[in-house]
Amino acid sequence: MSLYLNDTARSWRCARPGGGARAFHEGLPGYAPTPLLDLPDLAAACGVGRMLVKDESYRLGLPAFKILGASWATARLIAARADLTGPLTLDALKRAAGALTLVTATDGNHGRAVARMAALLGLPARMFLPAVATDAVVAAIAGEGARVTRIDGDYDEAVRRAAADAAADPDAVLVQDTAWPGYTEIPSWIVEGYETLFAEITASVTPDLIVVPVGVGSLAQAAVAHVRGNALPTVVLGVEPDTAACTLASLEAGEPVTVPTADTIMAGLNCGTVSAIAWPFLRDGLDAAVTVTDADAARAVADLPTTGPSGASTLAAARALLADPQARARLGLGPDATVVLLGTEAAPAAQR
Ligand SMILES: Cc1ncc(COP(=O)(O)O)c(C=O)c1O
Repeated sequence: MSLYLNDTARSWRCARPGGGARAFHEGLPGYAPTPLLDLPDLAAACGVGRMLVKDESYRLGLPAFKILGASWATARLIAARADLTGPLTLDALKRAAGALTLVTATDGNHGRAVARMAALLGLPARMFLPAVATDAVVAAIAGEGARVTRIDGDYDEAVRRAAADAAADPDAVLVQDTAWPGYTEIPSWIVEGYETLFAEITASVTPDLIVVPVGVGSLAQAAVAHVRGNALPTVVLGVEPDTAACTLASLEAGEPVTVPTADTIMAGLNCGTVSAIAWPFLRDGLDAAVTVTDADAARAVADLPTTGPSGASTLAAARALLADPQARARLGLGPDATVVLLGTEAAPAAQR
């Protein structure tokens, strides 16, 4: 296990995230806070007082949390283009959207969420997937009505292809969940959308440790913004596949580093470059980062049957961290600690 610790992260502060996304999500058809499920046997096995999983296996009709970001970013995008004021309802957005095509690159979950938003608003959508994307993922996104291109390259290359595609079409807008210099506004709206998930958690429990799966780091940025912006006493642990550990490599180098990636069962985390707007939050506000192997994730999936590998990686990470007495002592995680795992996606067999 590679473990990175930042002892100063807990005293770092940032602005408190705004609450606009939550009111918007609450107005969407089918909104309900996702369950926070107790895992007493795993808590006992890991030597903590309580372990819970935030079960994102069914969020606004899709099998992952990603629709929180895609929906809010799409809403803000349409509102900004049309100068919309007043409540951002689906009907108001539909009327204001005009000629607009949504474009994105995706490992699967984000693209499906953008495609679903396009379908709800009656808009076309174009998706770019890396070569490792499975036929099932391609079919799920195409099933939302989007045009899907599986490229001969990795996720970072898919992002470049999507950006070029959108730039060549005056009606198209790139709705990407990662930022780079010159492309930050839409990714920042996506991160704002993820705030709903953290607000739901801390409405009922204040975790001592929250474990976040990290791809490009936008979800982890939202976790850090929520915890540090509200001055909560929570340790934030990020987890990545050992084959796509761009955040860990960047933290160790002290600057963003792109890493080569390989196939992994944690498909949603298979990213080689950390988001440019996430990076300062992760550098300064993330307490710990760890990598896990596919074998660790597969064991975790067996113990969290409704959660897919990207989400179950959080259990593998918690196991690794909590088995290390020195790390526990440094992070102040005693036997009574409450741990929240972000179960960010459904297991394929549990998809509704
Ligand atoms: C299921 C799942 N969990 C976690 C993540 C990580 O989110 P981020 O890329 O914002 O770090 C993703 C990203 O696609 C995902 O699909």
